[in-house]
Amino acid sequence: MANVSTSYDYLFKVLLCGDCGVGKTSMLCRFISDEMNDAYIATIGVDFKLTTLEMRGKMIKLQIWDTAGQERFKALTAQYYRRAQGIMLVYDITNEQTFENTASWLRMIQENSTSDVKLMLIGNKIDNEQKRQVTTHQGQQLAKDYGMDFFEASALSSENVSEAFSTFTENILKHMQGRYKEMVGSQVSLNKLGLNDSSTKPKRESPCAC
Ligand code: GTP
Repeated sequence: MANVSTSYDYLFKVLLCGDCGVGKTSMLCRFISDEMNDAYIATIGVDFKLTTLEMRGKMIKLQIWDTAGQERFKALTAQYYRRAQGIMLVYDITNEQTFENTASWLRMIQENSTSDVKLMLIGNKIDNEQKRQVTTHQGQQLAKDYGMDFFEASALSSENVSEAFSTFTENILKHMQGRYKEMVGSQVSLNKLGLNDSSTKPKRESPCAC
């Protein structure tokens, strides 16, 4: 499980999106505090949580935005996409409609995020295999078509939840370090990429808003 730390080398902003009820909040709670609420309480607007991971010798602070899946919040949540280095698009493997609706979420991502944002597709609720409506192959194919990382997971059983967040963080880190190396030649500092917040923010942080 991830820990909250007071100092960090990089700050990454990651956003969770997808239909209402697919389990975005549940995945986040499982990842941050290893718990999950069975009751469905729809997210209103945007919520966020903080955690810190150690990766490749660097402390990575993750600010994870959990956006509401409901249509009425789309104009509001769209404003957060541009600030994200990574977006996790979640669907429910037991609900085919949520998989079909990934097309409209991908349009929303394309219209509102930066061109080099990293994407991950997550099929949640694999604990409920008997009710599966979306095959693993369908998920893999969609992810391949859009150059997304892909995981199937379960917030309920916790299977693959940490793995998905860790892999995604590592891939964002690799991507950003690659970008940084390219930019060093032109004397652009990491601060200008907006990633090294430790130079501008105090080392001590308040705990996450779980
Ligand atoms: P919005 O906030 O409306 O966008 O929904 P959400 O995507 O955040 O969904 P949420 O995490 O609130 O979960 C919706 C319902 O699905 C809740 O009743 C959860 O208990 C249930 N749920 C979430 N993850 C899983 C899972 O992995 N397996 C099963 N069986 N149920 C899950």
